[in-house]
Amino acid sequence: MKPFAAALLAWFDDHGRHDLPWQGTQDNGRRDAYRVWLSEIMLQQTQVATVVGYFERFVAALPGLRALAAAPEDQVLALWSGLGYYRRARFLHRAAQLCVERHGGELPRDFDALAALPGIGRSTAGAILAQAYGLRFPILDGNVKRVLARYHGIHGHPGASAVEKQLWQHADAHTPAARVADYTQAIMDLGATMCTRTRPHCGTCPLAEGCVARRDGLTAQLPSPKPA
Ligand code: ADE
Repeated sequence: MKPFAAALLAWFDDHGRHDLPWQGTQDNGRRDAYRVWLSEIMLQQTQVATVVGYFERFVAALPGLRALAAAPEDQVLALWSGLGYYRRARFLHRAAQLCVERHGGELPRDFDALAALPGIGRSTAGAILAQAYGLRFPILDGNVKRVLARYHGIHGHPGASAVEKQLWQHADAHTPAARVADYTQAIMDLGATMCTRTRPHCGTCPLAEGCVARRDGLTAQLPSPKPA
């Protein structure tokens, strides 16, 4: 394994979150794809600490994809109430119905089929395939963009397409074939807790050694802000 992934996984083993309610494994040793999907949609705009309670209530009421597809929209929205960004709940509901219509009531394992569902972009599709099915797909959400822009010293707004393309290439190159579910959680946790937007914890960061922004004193400048 390359040093970036190895250092991140060693950090995750000691300091990462291992007991989140969507991380539990089934008899086959894999995580439940429905639970992983639901968690990723909730986590798109909401922090882990807030999501946990909503997640527990949601899966208690609607424990699987078919239950969600069959639920009245009012119930789905009531379970979402307080989380905000209600479009996420409507997309989730619609996507569950499409999975019943097109994919035999399961979340597809195929990247293109998954990314075609409402509310599932390229990064969320990768996060689901990696965590639920152990498939080697990169992720690139806002936190991961910050980690990679700093680590590689990439200037330019991460939302600009040329910059984003570069970041995706790095994200792909770093993603290991082994332990891809843990790696995916690890890089998101690192972005959320260590490589924070302001005052990152470089002194204890497992990636500090190879980090360009740390070396050059640019953590306050990277990632570059959106041009005015
Ligand atoms: N943001 C999106 N997915 C996440 C996850 N699995 N853990 C932490 N933050 C996230």
